[in-house]
Amino acid sequence: MIKEITARELNSERFINDKVKQIQHAVGDGMAINALSGGVDSSTVTMLGHRALGKRLKTVFIENGLMREGESEHVAALFQKLGIFVEVIDAHKEFFAALKGIADPEEKREAITQTFYQNVFGRIIKESGAKHLLQGTILTDVDETVAGIKRQHNVFEQLGIDPQEAFGYRILEPLIQLRKDSVRKIGKALGLPAEMFERIPFPGPALSARVIGKVTPERIETVRKATIVVERLLKDTGAFQYMAILHEDRVTGMRDGKRDFGQQIEVRCWDSVDARIATPTQLSFEIFEKLAGEIVRDVPGIVSVTYNIAQKPPSTIEAV
Ligand code: XMP
Repeated sequence: MIKEITARELNSERFINDKVKQIQHAVGDGMAINALSGGVDSSTVTMLGHRALGKRLKTVFIENGLMREGESEHVAALFQKLGIFVEVIDAHKEFFAALKGIADPEEKREAITQTFYQNVFGRIIKESGAKHLLQGTILTDVDETVAGIKRQHNVFEQLGIDPQEAFGYRILEPLIQLRKDSVRKIGKALGLPAEMFERIPFPGPALSARVIGKVTPERIETVRKATIVVERLLKDTGAFQYMAILHEDRVTGMRDGKRDFGQQIEVRCWDSVDARIATPTQLSFEIFEKLAGEIVRDVPGIVSVTYNIAQKPPSTIEAV
């Protein structure tokens, strides 16, 4: 049973000091690795790990081909400014190969987990001689996995999987007692810029969590283009999270006076404190019109745009 530290109880300075000591103790005089995705959790772990281990922490960004537009360059440049070198490792071919032909949500998540931890990370860790992987699992990830709602890509022990046995390295999870609101506080206290600690959450399986049905480079590119529009138009709403989802259904539309049997994007925008429950944000019709207009204009093949109005539960934040 993991003991939650609520945002109200959290004493950032003490938490950081404790975790720094624990990381130093676990890693000893060896080295550790962490994978930075640019999300709040992995960015916070990167800062914490560097405070504890300095140059003995190697930070990599795995380019899985499923990230948002320009993400790896942006994140690497931002951490460079903070004095942290990030190595970008291109593994997009491996991820697309693993996802090929899979439409089932849990099978997709499993394919990503295996590719990430077994293949790509297994290799990087072996080459580096590190024995520890530092990662930003948070309590909400554990809850949903244990409850059997979604297999979060980064949860093992609670499922009875020993990472040492399965992958050959230990996983350290310094944020596991926290939820998103507390992680933001810790990130801020560690010196992350607001642009990073205020960032909306982004899932480990990245844009593949936003493609219903089979994941191909083309379908990822479609949802990536729609994501650019959605993030630009909704960034000032103050919402907890917002996203574009590509549906599998085809819908009849028309373009240039001709029938166009096109595709459909669903927009979701959530109000939430910690992702456990969430309600759709009450957006104005003016924003809906902009979203629809710019998505059909900028994303090839889209003829229909919808907005999700169901709450979590029974909905979930991501569609996969
Ligand atoms: P759901 O879709 O379960 O999402 O309502 C709850 C929150 O978690 C994020 N999410 C993930 N984060 N690995 C992660 O690190 C995952 O596999 C994953 N799946 C969902 C989601 O974006 C939301 O903020």
